Amino acid sequence: MSHADDYEGTRRDFIYYAAAGAGTVVAGAAVWPLVNQMNPSADVLALASIRVDVSGLQPGSQLTQLWQGKPVFIRYRTPEEIEAARAVDLSELPDPVARNDNLDEAVPATDENRALGESGEWLVMMGVCTHFGCVPVGEAGDFDGWFCPCHGSHYDTSGRIRSGPAPENLPVPMAAFVDETTILLGEEA
Ligand code: FES
Repeated sequence: MSHADDYEGTRRDFIYYAAAGAGTVVAGAAVWPLVNQMNPSADVLALASIRVDVSGLQPGSQLTQLWQGKPVFIRYRTPEEIEAARAVDLSELPDPVARNDNLDEAVPATDENRALGESGEWLVMMGVCTHFGCVPVGEAGDFDGWFCPCHGSHYDTSGRIRSGPAPENLPVPMAAFVDETTILLGEEA
């Protein structure tokens, strides 16, 4: 092997590893702070249902609740966010299905079929990108909803995929208000 070949091989290897390393850093940046912050114990991971106090939320804010080992986004939406979500023509949606565990699996992805309650103020959904499972960032992206930085998926203010490689809307888990300020995730035994 000549020196030139040797150099080329080394350089290619370097570029490959540098690119792989960069990808790992981006994915880790999205996932790690959440896991580290919440540090779930085994019994918390196993809970079939959990009650979440949402009394501290104002319109335009959200909290992230860890449930069954995954983040759940609970957002108290503004009138503007609801209006934007409801103005979307369904033909523009890459995934036409609501993905709402509280409804029949075939219902269309209208905002009404994804929000919790008729007013549409509350949106509860799994904070796990349907592409490869990163945690999307809120109030971000081309549709002012959620943005997944791992490979560039944009979700709207209803958590529906609008552009990028993610194939499905963010799933809505079983959820219900049990009093004015408490949301039950899952089903109580
Ligand atoms: S994991 Fe979200 S875009 Fe790939």
